Amino acid sequence: MQNLKNEELKRWIQEVADLTQPSNIYICNGSQEEYDRLCNEMVASGTLKKLNPEKRPGSFLACSDPSDVARVEDSTYICSVNKADAGPNNNWADPVEMKSKLNHLFRGCMRGRTMYVIPFSMGPIGSPISQIGVEITDSPYVVVNMRIMTRIGTKVLDVLGNNSFVHCLHSVGAPLEPGQQDAKWPCNKTKYITHFPETKEIISFGSGYGGNALLGKKCFALRIGSNMGKNEGWLAEHMLILGAESPQGEKTYVAAAFPSACGKTNFAMLIPPTTMSGWKITTIGDDIAWIKPGNDGRLYAINPEAGYFGVAPGTSEKTNQNAMLTIRKNTLFTNVGLTEDGDVWWEGMTETPPAKLIDWQGQVWTPEIAAETGRKAAHPNARFTTPASECPSIDSNWENPEGVPISAFIFGGRRATTVPLITETKDWDHGVYWAATIGSETTAAAVGAVGQVRRDPFAMLPFCGYHMGDYFAHWMAMGKKIPNAPKIFGVNWFRKNDEGKFMWAGYGDNMRVLEWIIGRVKGTADAVETEIGFAPTFKDMNWNGLPITEEQFKQLSKVDASEWTVELKLQDELIEKLKDRLPNKFLEIRKSIEGRFRSAKAALNEVTL
Ligand code: GTP
Ligand code: SPV
Ligand code: MN
Repeated sequence: MQNLKNEELKRWIQEVADLTQPSNIYICNGSQEEYDRLCNEMVASGTLKKLNPEKRPGSFLACSDPSDVARVEDSTYICSVNKADAGPNNNWADPVEMKSKLNHLFRGCMRGRTMYVIPFSMGPIGSPISQIGVEITDSPYVVVNMRIMTRIGTKVLDVLGNNSFVHCLHSVGAPLEPGQQDAKWPCNKTKYITHFPETKEIISFGSGYGGNALLGKKCFALRIGSNMGKNEGWLAEHMLILGAESPQGEKTYVAAAFPSACGKTNFAMLIPPTTMSGWKITTIGDDIAWIKPGNDGRLYAINPEAGYFGVAPGTSEKTNQNAMLTIRKNTLFTNVGLTEDGDVWWEGMTETPPAKLIDWQGQVWTPEIAAETGRKAAHPNARFTTPASECPSIDSNWENPEGVPISAFIFGGRRATTVPLITETKDWDHGVYWAATIGSETTAAAVGAVGQVRRDPFAMLPFCGYHMGDYFAHWMAMGKKIPNAPKIFGVNWFRKNDEGKFMWAGYGDNMRVLEWIIGRVKGTADAVETEIGFAPTFKDMNWNGLPITEEQFKQLSKVDASEWTVELKLQDELIEKLKDRLPNKFLEIRKSIEGRFRSAKAALNEVTL
């Protein structure tokens, strides 16, 4: 404490300690020794299990309380001074009232625990694009995860000097009485994830899991970040960033937004099919992009994170070999199964499951028990936390403070029906409309029902820290500022056939879609116009090595007028909600799409007559 140079940090630490009454205060230096010590302490307390060092060196498993497994959107608040600024897309609370409620909850909430102070940098330490935050937490699990996901420690304090920083306060909300045995995963059934955009503060209570607790990620880099971006002329997005090197050696960078658990990590680390020889994908980031206009009039993107907090189920050698190689060592696993030889397993990791394991809830699990009861080895939102630097496909520019120039934006959702495999939008504003109106089936990444279609504009519904109408206007305005704005595309990897099976091979074969996208950007690929944009015909795509018939491709690409009539109605619900702050252009585009369906129908009637 005495050595701290930052006056505000010293004052704030004292204020929080006075309120929460921890037994100790510890300032994290970010060293390997510190990380190892905390992991060992958590092994001793039962929070972590050390995995077999021969199978998974330097790796641990944490299993959470079954009530604390995902983001809690219903308990997430934007506490802007004016309610209207938070918009209908956010829960709002008055900042003064929320602070007083939180003050009550935080009083004595760290009793019996150590209060950790984690100085962290979003983006490379010392880079002009980086932003500094300090997270105060009573969870050592949060400390070790933050060390992988961000850059933490003394180096950050050195760069911070006496400057301001984003205040991130977190508690699991489980004080310990003297002699009380701690839970393996302490948490509180009362949860609040709160953001104060005007004062750039985050206060989170009651959960130790993922985006609720690792405050650099969704809370800072997206919710507070999006507010900063709006005010300062940049974009904070729920996007992966990848580089695609063509067989001719030309590199194109694209950024893609898909909702939570809808394929960003997989797309960011894609390995092209061997039959598409010469293409190579490199990874900049898998979840968050900060995007700024460069001096040359292009948009440049950086990944503010330093690790991946990726969905485990479904990750395998076949679907994502790069992720499997990244997590070979030095990885924290949360809520996956523990095999008898001290390794991890989850649904989809191998074709044949282990004969027996301990599931994420600590119970014996066998394939027979699973078949009988439907019980899963891993929670559907089980995750790995792993350093980006270990990823074999990492791009050489991934820490370049200038970022990488973006040539295309891709927006996708998880849709069993209606939305074709690939669509190119007509121009920037139409692209914004497309992104704004995407629907997606809900996933296990957030607590609540799974599989329900909801509008998830820009995959940012849970992450945009202000009024969505203002956000669309900000995007439209950005396009006007950029002389050669990137093209905007829509994709859907998840269309299903009548038997409920995915129609599209997905994963590595998504390279075929990406190749067409890059062809469109370069002006070398053909397309036809549809009611909703432009699309490739069968002959415009590279099918080398994929057994797909023209009829199958037609089904994947179908724009069905009756399905789209329903879709447009669903879009209207969103438009209705946001209408007080929607750009006029938005409504014009809505009308013109409807008009196109009407003239298509009229033309069809003429033909039938
Ligand atoms: P967040 O970290 O929650 O933001 O998610 P994400 O968008 O990074 O999702 P991720 O890539 O981890 O994918 C989530 C799930 O979708 C996994 O179970 C994947 O196996 C599955 N998935 C990813 N890509 C594809 C695809 O192309 N086709 C199909 N059918 N499934 C996919
Ligand atoms: C998401 O839900 O989009 C995630 C995981 O990336 S979490 O960090 O928990 O938000
Ligand atoms: Mn995410």
